[in-house]
Amino acid sequence: MERILIAITVFFYTCAFDRMDVDPNFQVMAVEDQAVAPGLRGLAARSGLLVGAAVAAEPLRGDEEYRTVLAREYNALVPENALKFGNVHPEPERYDFNDFDEILAFAESNDMCVRGHTLVWHRQLPSWVEQRPSTREELTEVLRAHVHTVVGRYRGRVHYWDVVNEAISDFWGFRSTVWSRAIGSEYIEMAFRFAHEADPDALLFYNDYGVEGLGRKSTRMYELVSNLLERDVPIHGVGLQVHVNQGIPRTDELESNLRRLEGLGLQIHLTEVDVGIPQPTTEPKLLKQAILYQKLMDSCLAIRSCTAFVTWGFTDAHSWVPSYFPGLDAALPFDSSLQPKPSYGVLRRSLKESSRTAPRGLTRRCS
Ligand code: XIL
Repeated sequence: MERILIAITVFFYTCAFDRMDVDPNFQVMAVEDQAVAPGLRGLAARSGLLVGAAVAAEPLRGDEEYRTVLAREYNALVPENALKFGNVHPEPERYDFNDFDEILAFAESNDMCVRGHTLVWHRQLPSWVEQRPSTREELTEVLRAHVHTVVGRYRGRVHYWDVVNEAISDFWGFRSTVWSRAIGSEYIEMAFRFAHEADPDALLFYNDYGVEGLGRKSTRMYELVSNLLERDVPIHGVGLQVHVNQGIPRTDELESNLRRLEGLGLQIHLTEVDVGIPQPTTEPKLLKQAILYQKLMDSCLAIRSCTAFVTWGFTDAHSWVPSYFPGLDAALPFDSSLQPKPSYGVLRRSLKESSRTAPRGLTRRCS
């Protein structure tokens, strides 16, 4: 069933991508300029924006060039898989923090802000959580212990947490998951409260996909976070994943959506941006991809509360897109040899040309 839905999504996305026009005046910043310091992070500092990437433990450990580009370009990172429940807490009494400890050490030695991803999700759960028939009390205790242990261990060092990921159904209401079936939708509120208890200074986010424009799902998310705020649940931000392969958001809708979330006093992070190219990759398609990246960056820069632009990986050598969206590839700003693509050039240009400035009196950078 899921495969069929993905195939349909890829089909419609490919049609929309093919139909896109490339404005003949659209120019990508010269390649020579791309090689010149500072990286994206240097250009983003002026506008007070975090530019980040999801990081995989293995290349970070073994690939010097991967580390060099990551440290040069980005001022934020998020572990792609290392903090997911099944990886970090594989058995009831056993946690495995090795991968994330290495990632965090890298972030700290390169002065990067860190997003923790993710505490509560319905995927990448260990079998002991997935299969154990639990009462409400038992699973609440599992949730409490997990969130307290993971957030508590990194108190003061992980600045943002995706506390709950993808809780809203694509069709109606909340998604039916291990958590919702045993606890009810209150598990969402509980997770935020547990995370806040473990680190009162961390900024806590709700994160989801398909909530970029002004559709039914994004309205349900707006209602969810409004409701949490009304009940004084400690939530500080919303993460929009922006996997463009799941549907190209209209720029006007994206900006209206960012504005209504800003109106709630929340920060917004674009958390998992990638733009898959229907295969094969060609020069004109690379330009279309760049246009989409530019629109996303410009929309974020236009809304002051949009404080982070994070791509899901940074090099095409390590991206979830080809294995999850058959027929799409090359979704990131650097190619698989770590060379910058036109999408990287436009991100630089948008950052350079932005008139946005960091708020005065900004004392803590990761806030
Ligand atoms: C993906 C990772 O990139 C893959 O390596 C893993 O096999 C599955 O998860 N939304 C999310 C991310 O919130 O955690 C997912 O990451 C991509 C979709």
